[in-house]
Amino acid sequence: MTHGFATSPLCDLLKIDTPIGPATTPTMTAAVSNAGGLGMLAFLRRDADDVHRLLSETHDLTDRPFGGNFILRGLEGTDDRLDACLESGVDVVSFHWDEPYEYVERVHAAGALLMYTVGDAEAARRAVAAGVDIIVAQGWEAGGHVRGDVATMALLPVVVDAVAPVPVISAGSIADGRGMAAALMLGADGVWIGTRFVTSEEADVDPSYKERIINASETGTLLSSKVFNGGWAAGGRALRNNTIENWEAAGSPEVGERPGEGEVIAKAADGGPVERYSSIASYSGVTGDLEGLSNWAGQGVGLIKRVQPAADIVREITEEAIQVLRKASTLWRVADAPDSLTTWCDRMTPETSHLIGAL
Ligand SMILES: Cc1cc2nc3c(=O)[nH]c(=O)nc-3n(C[C@H](O)[C@H](O)[C@H](O)COP(=O)(O)O)c2cc1C
Repeated sequence: MTHGFATSPLCDLLKIDTPIGPATTPTMTAAVSNAGGLGMLAFLRRDADDVHRLLSETHDLTDRPFGGNFILRGLEGTDDRLDACLESGVDVVSFHWDEPYEYVERVHAAGALLMYTVGDAEAARRAVAAGVDIIVAQGWEAGGHVRGDVATMALLPVVVDAVAPVPVISAGSIADGRGMAAALMLGADGVWIGTRFVTSEEADVDPSYKERIINASETGTLLSSKVFNGGWAAGGRALRNNTIENWEAAGSPEVGERPGEGEVIAKAADGGPVERYSSIASYSGVTGDLEGLSNWAGQGVGLIKRVQPAADIVREITEEAIQVLRKASTLWRVADAPDSLTTWCDRMTPETSHLIGAL
């Protein structure tokens, strides 16, 4: 049975929990969707044929809703890949980085919803005015490429206020049910989880990347636009490693003056060279100095303890969030508890809902 939440407008649109990034595979996406979440397939560095193939494989594995994700960064064409995605059929198209407004009509005409990741309230307002259906508010604690520099606690409520009643999903260091519960209390309709799913069994990354996340503490990441920007000069948060330590020891120099710049430290799965400071992470098939690569991860690493099947991660986080929210209703005398909260918590039993509030 799917455990879940039945409280937000988002849950009327989606059935949810999302890992995202090149580490996503059809197997992982389907596992998350089959567990009641919204699996998300990332199309970074994928051409239109890849998009068709990955979506067809995913459709073979699940009948539940799932989404496709594009990073708009001016490095890959979008039109043919988006057409491939819409032809193959997804419920949601998610965009990150550049503003995706020229695609709103096309996505809607195909019957899909459009989701866009923002890092501030003004960007959220613009997105909604342009027809975006769901906002992802990404706090700067997040792993991978990070759009803004505001932490979730400050960002989420202002984005929620700015675009209400449009659903807002919270992203950034949510790695357990406590984080999910907190995000819901700040007004989110769901949560988008990345780093924790990198440690799922299905994640298509080298096992050493998963181990590094599990062994990292909350201080073990760095957000910078000056380190792992080879191939894409954007700010991103990754695990601290020998590349970062040597760069900091050299005084955190600008691009062009960094120690070991141009040095090939690994081979990509296709045999191509991967230089130090590349934005390529240790995905499956990459060999060489994997520790020195960009092992993208959010500050929630301190909460991640083991490798698990993706479906177990969805269930564990959801069940813990329900428990935490139930406990919250005991923080004051029942006579003083607002009816709305008591009713809300009562509704969140596994037995009464088949919808999940995690994205
Ligand atoms: C390994 C990795 C790859 C990512 N790749 C993408 C991507 O391709 N597209 C995207 O929109 N976001 C990507 N992200 C960022 C996530 O969408 C999300 O904002 C972030 O993971 C949330 O923070 P968390 O990692 O602390 O859970 C990636 C994150 C990680 C950790």
